[in-house]
Amino acid sequence: MQDWLKSLGIQEVNSGVCDGRWVEKPGGGELVSVSPIDGKPIARVLQGSEADYERVMDSALDAFGSWRMLPAPRRGLVVRDICDELRRHKEPLGRLVTLEMGKIYTEGQGEVQEMIDMGDFAVGLSRQLYGLTMHSERSRHRMYEQWHPLGVVGIISAFNFPVAVWSWNAMIAAVCGDTMIWKPSSLTPLTAVATQQIVNRVMDAHNLRGVFGLVVGRGSTVGEKMINDRRVPLVSATGSTPMGRRIGEVVGKRLGRTILELGGNNAIIVMDDADPKLALRAILFGAVGTAGQRCTTTRRIFLQKGIAEGFTKKLVDSYKTIRIGDPLDPGTVMGPLVDGDAVETMMKALDAIRAQGGEILYGGKKLDRPGHYVEPTIVKARPGMAIVKEETFAPILYLFTVDSLEEAVKLHNSVDQGLSSAIFTRNLQAAEAFLSHEGSDCGIANVNIGTSGAEIGGAFGGEKETGGGREAGSDSWKAYMRRQTCTINWSDELPLAQGVQFGE
Ligand code: UN1
Repeated sequence: MQDWLKSLGIQEVNSGVCDGRWVEKPGGGELVSVSPIDGKPIARVLQGSEADYERVMDSALDAFGSWRMLPAPRRGLVVRDICDELRRHKEPLGRLVTLEMGKIYTEGQGEVQEMIDMGDFAVGLSRQLYGLTMHSERSRHRMYEQWHPLGVVGIISAFNFPVAVWSWNAMIAAVCGDTMIWKPSSLTPLTAVATQQIVNRVMDAHNLRGVFGLVVGRGSTVGEKMINDRRVPLVSATGSTPMGRRIGEVVGKRLGRTILELGGNNAIIVMDDADPKLALRAILFGAVGTAGQRCTTTRRIFLQKGIAEGFTKKLVDSYKTIRIGDPLDPGTVMGPLVDGDAVETMMKALDAIRAQGGEILYGGKKLDRPGHYVEPTIVKARPGMAIVKEETFAPILYLFTVDSLEEAVKLHNSVDQGLSSAIFTRNLQAAEAFLSHEGSDCGIANVNIGTSGAEIGGAFGGEKETGGGREAGSDSWKAYMRRQTCTINWSDELPLAQGVQFGE
């Protein structure tokens, strides 16, 4: 085991279950974490069984009793210490993200920065969990609303942002006074173990246990148990739309709450008057960044007809310069896909594209080398191709030519997903029209910025089959608390609302 991995507390065999103390021999079977860079195993993780889940749940319930008693600003100080510990371990943790998930080095570092940003945000938030006050319609009455902690929050995260999305949820849930159980993706258990190690050190120093729980385990056992568990008032899940549908149904049936952040099918509209350099750079980062495995990845481009031909040529030329390879190498722009299944899914999508009349302008091949490398692919799409409506989690970019903004917006909104969107234009009217209620139907809409790489300060999430949830900044915290509306009568009368006279 290399020293930098050891510095994160990673061993040859790791427990994947922790309630503050690591469960020594969890009973859910062994999981091997394999690097997509070369297909070689990194280390092993022992998964949790249902009984292990119960143990972590007991701790989380127990901890909720005392954690919620700490004033929010003091919870914020604990989060601040976690944030500082993350700062100290940014380099190796980011490196582990790259090693285990395959995103390039700078993106791995950026992912940990996103955790830190989220922590900083949460520290400030811990003094700003504001409620409104209202004027009562009755004299000498006061009305206000306040926000209380919710309980044990379930966090289900995906492989593509194995630690940042945990942080979106965990940092906020913690300052809100909730405790939590994290079920990370089975493709990235080591980043979760390393994160938990960082958190444990801080919690030990504060003599706190059970606030942050971890259960690495199968969806069919631990995942199902969590979503069916009535002791979990909120499940926040990131992943595919089919997965989210299942979670929404199960949690909805017991009238629990969900925050769902599911598939995207994000598009950029490039108008004739756009700055082509900006648009090109944004499309490259959006479509090729993280090897097309962000939920915000740019998957569709609508080019206005005046620039379509020239821009397509420039785009293909830039794809030719993309260096594919080891994501730890600083010169690499695109690393591998996460595993062999992901490559197969991409190849199947390419078969469907060909069968449906799409023209592959660039790429489309798997690279013949160890690891899971593919060429980023540009497809000239035909109107009505069914595959375009699906989110294929791979670097496939569909190009369309449009006559007008109106046509672009119509096509843009014609998919089931509604996460992120962008327009490149220097025309104020076009920009505002895109952002208006007649424009993009997505949760995120940008002007002269691509679809991916959002800052944490805004609320993150999308509409339609993206699931409707919002995480990270703005007032997303409200989903992690319960709202209480309070009316206090300090008069000597008992007037009824709406002027009702009762028994007088
Ligand atoms: C995801 O892909 O699930 O906006 C999250 C972005 C990142 C987060 C992506 N900040 O691309």
